[in-house]
Amino acid sequence: MATQAEKRIAELTSQLTEHAYRYYVLDDPIISDGEYDQLFHELLSLEEAFPHLAADDSPTRRIGGAPLDKFEQVEHRLPMLSLENGFSAADLAEFADKLERFLNEPVTGGYSAEPKLDGLAVELIYRDGRFALGSTRGDGLTGENVSVQLRTINAIPLKLLGDPPPLLEVRGEIYMEKAGFEKLNRMQLDRGLQPFANPRNAAAGSLRQLDPAITAKRPLRFFAYSVSEPDATGCRSQVDLLEFLNRSGFPTCPHNKFCTDIDAVIGHYHSLASIRHQLPYDIDGMVVKVDRLQLQARLGIKSRAPRWAIAWKFPASQATTRLHGVEFQVGRTGAVTPVALLDPVSLDGATVSRATLHNQDEIDRKDLRIGDAVLVQRAGDVIPEVLRPVAEKRDGSEIPITIPTTCPACDSPLSKPEGEAVTRCTNIFCPAQRLRGLIHFCSKAGLDIDGLGKRYVEQLYEAGILQSIPDLFGLERDVLKDLDGWGEKSADNVLTAIERAKHPALSDFIAALGIRFIGETSAALLERHFPTLDKLSSATEEELLDIDGIGEQAARSLVSYFASQTTMDMIERLYRSGVQPVPRHAGGSAGALAGTTIVFTGSLSLSRDEAKKLVKEHGGAIASSVTSKVTHVVAGDKAGSKLKQAQEAGKVILTEAQFLELVSAK
Ligand code: IVH
Repeated sequence: MATQAEKRIAELTSQLTEHAYRYYVLDDPIISDGEYDQLFHELLSLEEAFPHLAADDSPTRRIGGAPLDKFEQVEHRLPMLSLENGFSAADLAEFADKLERFLNEPVTGGYSAEPKLDGLAVELIYRDGRFALGSTRGDGLTGENVSVQLRTINAIPLKLLGDPPPLLEVRGEIYMEKAGFEKLNRMQLDRGLQPFANPRNAAAGSLRQLDPAITAKRPLRFFAYSVSEPDATGCRSQVDLLEFLNRSGFPTCPHNKFCTDIDAVIGHYHSLASIRHQLPYDIDGMVVKVDRLQLQARLGIKSRAPRWAIAWKFPASQATTRLHGVEFQVGRTGAVTPVALLDPVSLDGATVSRATLHNQDEIDRKDLRIGDAVLVQRAGDVIPEVLRPVAEKRDGSEIPITIPTTCPACDSPLSKPEGEAVTRCTNIFCPAQRLRGLIHFCSKAGLDIDGLGKRYVEQLYEAGILQSIPDLFGLERDVLKDLDGWGEKSADNVLTAIERAKHPALSDFIAALGIRFIGETSAALLERHFPTLDKLSSATEEELLDIDGIGEQAARSLVSYFASQTTMDMIERLYRSGVQPVPRHAGGSAGALAGTTIVFTGSLSLSRDEAKKLVKEHGGAIASSVTSKVTHVVAGDKAGSKLKQAQEAGKVILTEAQFLELVSAK
């Protein structure tokens, strides 16, 4: 048994490693995320059953070990250097001139021109091909030991491919993709937490978590760009080195480019500048490196930066303008957010006239006043942000900014709980909250109703025909078609989309309701445990807390949401209009067994392979022994000790016929 398990563990480990490599390094996956998860869970349950077979560098060890008390300081064996900055083609020409003067001959062998990734630099140490230690750059000499956190990042190989040297110190950038960053921020907001200002802060904040289990849940990525001692790798150039890193199992940025001369470097800069907003991650310039390592060695280091490289930054997306007013926006959950009204200013190709001021604490910290000249920035290329006032320009007429004491939309008193940054309107009938709730319900984070973007929901709200969610399902064609900018076609399209939204997946519906602290992830968890809305609405706080992943705030918020008569009336009206959420994992669908781990025992008419295939196809996982992870046992004839064990452990016992019914294979 153990040898069989050992074999399967080895098989799964190598398959998972290969699939992660294809996904993160080659960007060419050959299995779906769901299939990957299945293999992963199979490995997890085998390792649970045979803990002595679980290797230190098993892919399952990426889920994060025990939390740390504090980060340990580690000295880099060789310093992690910084880069000189350049801001124009002239700066680059001067860089090239200096190289030539220093070398007393033209640079031969070209340049490596690489996107300057906007994340945080780390060093990964591999001994005999195995990940041994990882640290942040820190001040370049000493950083923090973040090994356990780095281990959770799938793009970082735990074991190198090929024939690595006994010691390899790889350097590169941890970053977060823009899409992952936005999703994370939506979750932060759902949980009533502060959003991150940009993907770089989110990446740094996620890596520097004492609890690696938190890091494991954040969508962090890695690109390698150098090693501490390139010569020791046998490579002759930076471009070779990047290829070597790639072959060893590291992702490298696909937009790195070899350039024969400075003109080609300039060309690549402009091409990067033109695609930077389409890239899935932030870059803030381009790093130019003399390609030949021999020349790099001759050029050496000046103070803390190499002479052979320069960071050519993109023009700063910052500008000064005037803050002429503040608007207080009431969000879906009642949070009141101050928004700066700015004299329009062009930043990085976009006109900016509004920027979030986050909350009162932020306003006070930055000491912002109405009438101030302010420095604004498009942080992470997306959200405009007010950085600071230009205090020297003040003439005394500026007015301090304070969040009002009553709601700007409904005049109810606002509350700011002790220790929280957010000020909130607690009136559940507040019209602004209602409008925001409607916008959310129709948006991508909700039921994704085509044709009902923010602007249109606002229009319907202002026209008085959409005041609450159930109104949506009673909208009339004749009324819609006559609205400003609509017409018959738009009316028909929207009504078709609304009709489709009558049978949403339950989890999407739960998320669409906009219950405080309940976002996409918790909604999916809730659906697994409460397959109907009625069951969910009558769940007690204790039952909700039993769900791994649902915390106290969320449980309390759900109970109070469903305890309200207004909520129940609304749900009743929705039912009456034919709205019927369905569990995503309803019987017979591809996910019928999602979340289950099944053991087969005894003799079945299905072959074991057929049975396993069915389980996998329906999203379940297989285990070979009755561990704590196991949810179901399918018992055939002459089932023996496993059946007994399962009965004792209170697992769900199925006959073969019942199992087949579950997957609707009959
Ligand atoms: S090479 C001596 N390559 O830029 C070489 N750095 O100011 C030092 N960075 O802290 C690093 N992309 O975080 C290099 N392709 C790239 C880079 C890159 C981003 C960052 C890195 C470092 C900073 C140097």
